[in-house]
Amino acid sequence: MSFKKLVFSGVQPTGNLHLGNYLGAIRKFVALQEQSDCIYCVVDMHAITMWQEPAELEKSTREVTAAFLASGIDPKAHIVFNQSRVMQHAELAWVFNCVARMGWLNKMTQFKDKAGKDRENASVGLFAYPNLMAADILVYRATHVPVGDDQKQHLELTREIAQKFNHDYSDRIRDLGAGVEMKSGEETVHGFFPITEPVIEGEATRVMSLRDGTKKMSKSDPSDLSRINLTDDADTIAKKIRKAKTDPQPLPSETEGLKERPDADNLVGIYAALAETTREDVLSQFGGQQFSVFKPALADLAVDKLAPIASEMRRISADQAYVDAVLKDGGERASALAEATMKDVRRIIGWLGN
Ligand code: TYM
Repeated sequence: MSFKKLVFSGVQPTGNLHLGNYLGAIRKFVALQEQSDCIYCVVDMHAITMWQEPAELEKSTREVTAAFLASGIDPKAHIVFNQSRVMQHAELAWVFNCVARMGWLNKMTQFKDKAGKDRENASVGLFAYPNLMAADILVYRATHVPVGDDQKQHLELTREIAQKFNHDYSDRIRDLGAGVEMKSGEETVHGFFPITEPVIEGEATRVMSLRDGTKKMSKSDPSDLSRINLTDDADTIAKKIRKAKTDPQPLPSETEGLKERPDADNLVGIYAALAETTREDVLSQFGGQQFSVFKPALADLAVDKLAPIASEMRRISADQAYVDAVLKDGGERASALAEATMKDVRRIIGWLGN
């Protein structure tokens, strides 16, 4: 027996979703549905590692759900739910708090970025955040996780946690017959948790700010001009692309020529991802052209691809009862799967009562 391919990913309900979230993650979620079972989670437990106004959190949770559905995720064939409905995430996160080492978490760059200079005042949850993320994935024994490039380090930690758990409890896993043979590189190993594969690919694994091509496009950037929100209307999208930072050179004909030009590279990458092609292809079409030609073409393409999602999001959001029903149904199905894993985990660890 080996692990069945299962896709898991999560998005935080902490404000406006933007083009980076869409191209780096949500669009891949949609594509993966064709080949595999998928579980997509609105991670409201991760959200409160930083202060969230409760009413805003509710609103954002429904909005991310609406974005999933509007982008084409099928909540009947797959599972869409909000994390806090499935308490097993928190239970397994506790186990992982005891598996992961302080030294591993101390290396996490996202904690350093988010905590900033005032580390002493960051929540304990923000520090332990990657353990909860590992629990999200492993409570379903998911094998593949589509994410943007910024989550790479967290997924490496997830793999380390799975390996350490499999190793520390190896005798017990064998005795209980709870393990699975799996490939780890060249070797075949035996373990309870899979060593999850990150799925970080394509032309937009790291979409950058429209105001500064060296900074990641992010929800927390104070300038709204730095990002395209999934809810932006056509005029706003066009305006933001018109105002996007560029340099005075025309576009190069080869990707080599994008090297020291982060703003140009970013816009070409966005075009390639939206058009589902490559940077090479975009440059073979636009090489030698000025931004005065390229930007309107990019704006048209972005509006073409994003406006239907925004309008579908509005339509779905208007039916709150439907959105809530999707989350409830997904939560029930996810709970059943998570509980099956936790029954084994509790026995492996030696917790009585199961
Ligand atoms: P979050 O909510 O910050 O982002 C959601 C997804 O969007 C991707 N992303 C980007 N991709 C390309 N360019 C960008 N500028 C950009 N900004 C964000 C992120 O990589 C992510 O895939 N910790 C996660 C949520 C999470 C999770 C999980 C993910 C919790 N548990 C389990 C996978 C598996 C996060 O904060 O994503």
